[in-house]
Amino acid sequence: MRPNPKQIYVGMSADLVHPGHMNILKVAAKLGEVTVGLLTDRAIASYKRVPFMTYKQRKDVIENIKGVVKVIPQETLDYRPNLEKLKPDIVVHGSDWKEGVQSKTRQQVIDTLDKWDGELVEPDYTVGISSTQLNNSLKEIGTTPDIRRGRLKRLIDAKPIVRIMESHNALSGLIVENIKADNGAEYDGMWSSSLTDSTSKGKPDIEAVDLSTRITTINEIFEVTTKPMIYDADTGGIAEHFAFTVRTLERTGISAVIIEDKTGLKKNSLFGNDVSQTQDTIENFCQKIQSGKKAQITDDFMIIARIESLILEVGIDDALKRAKAYIEAGADAIMIHSRHKEPDEVLEFCRILREHDETVPIIVVPTSYNQITAKELSEARINVVIYANHMLRAAYPGMVRVAKSILENDRSFEAEKDLLSIKKILELIPGTK
Ligand code: SPV
Ligand code: MG
Repeated sequence: MRPNPKQIYVGMSADLVHPGHMNILKVAAKLGEVTVGLLTDRAIASYKRVPFMTYKQRKDVIENIKGVVKVIPQETLDYRPNLEKLKPDIVVHGSDWKEGVQSKTRQQVIDTLDKWDGELVEPDYTVGISSTQLNNSLKEIGTTPDIRRGRLKRLIDAKPIVRIMESHNALSGLIVENIKADNGAEYDGMWSSSLTDSTSKGKPDIEAVDLSTRITTINEIFEVTTKPMIYDADTGGIAEHFAFTVRTLERTGISAVIIEDKTGLKKNSLFGNDVSQTQDTIENFCQKIQSGKKAQITDDFMIIARIESLILEVGIDDALKRAKAYIEAGADAIMIHSRHKEPDEVLEFCRILREHDETVPIIVVPTSYNQITAKELSEARINVVIYANHMLRAAYPGMVRVAKSILENDRSFEAEKDLLSIKKILELIPGTK
């Protein structure tokens, strides 16, 4: 090693390591002693998906590459905090960031390096390889139950708000997997709703569909998707049975189960003004949580306690008392439900709960208070938003309209404008030739 080698800084995500990364590191190692600023999950999730590999796995890979002397976390997309700390002589980055969204970051790097006469070296970007392409190929290969299960906790850790969309069959699962907004936003995972699962099977939402039938549907969804799933287990049944449910869900690769603190014949929470239902005692429900926690095998699986106090109009104080007891009993997160048109009560509950517990993930289902945005929920320090029934509610009116139109017109010509073309249907399904 040369005396006083130059200090080189390379920032990277290094999720899917490809020859492009190796080339950058090779160039960097020739210039001096390389420190890699490895972007944290949170930094990466701020502009794209949570990486496939955890920070620790990515660190293990990068620190074993020849020429890399040190790996440190880069907590933001902005290089400046690490550069100010390390004052490297040279930063190495692929030339691909001269244009597009990263050009601002590049300019900040140049301006910062100027302060101590540092230099930016930009090897040609390796054409023909991109992690976006590799990501798409990986999606085609699929995932494993272990990887899928662990993703929810990582998402909650890394993202300001995790967006979950209901999915009741493989086709709706594919939509949740692939749909993207123009600004790049996507859903982070799926909700297996008892309401939409039972409705799509023509049954009422009263725990009438058995677990094995629901698991069959979920396996069909899992065959064509990679995103994590939260499972709506209604009341979870009796504590002894719930332990077996947890094992089955966990084995399938589901990330979390939500159980609600009601007793007796379960009814849907949004069902009219029915406050005749009763809530379980705190002791019983805590026992159920504990029995589930004891049964689970992995650290990744989450048991989420759903509080129905606001649904049953018994007030915020009751909801808070229950939240504290459920957390104490081992619940990994709290879901607070409400069917009011205004979010005030939910927000007040979250504000007070946060004073008591800074970190427990909070989940909401804003079906009735639907004016609130995900951004506003995240500002209220809510971690997960579930859109609990929207895929099914979207599909049904379309089907009714078309079925009626064909009868009324005695032909399908008029309905065609409301239909997806056969060509597009075929393109929708991966693997169709
Ligand atoms: C479901 O989607 O089945 C739920 C949420 O439990 S709700 O219907 O709002 O009660
Ligand atoms: Mg339900």
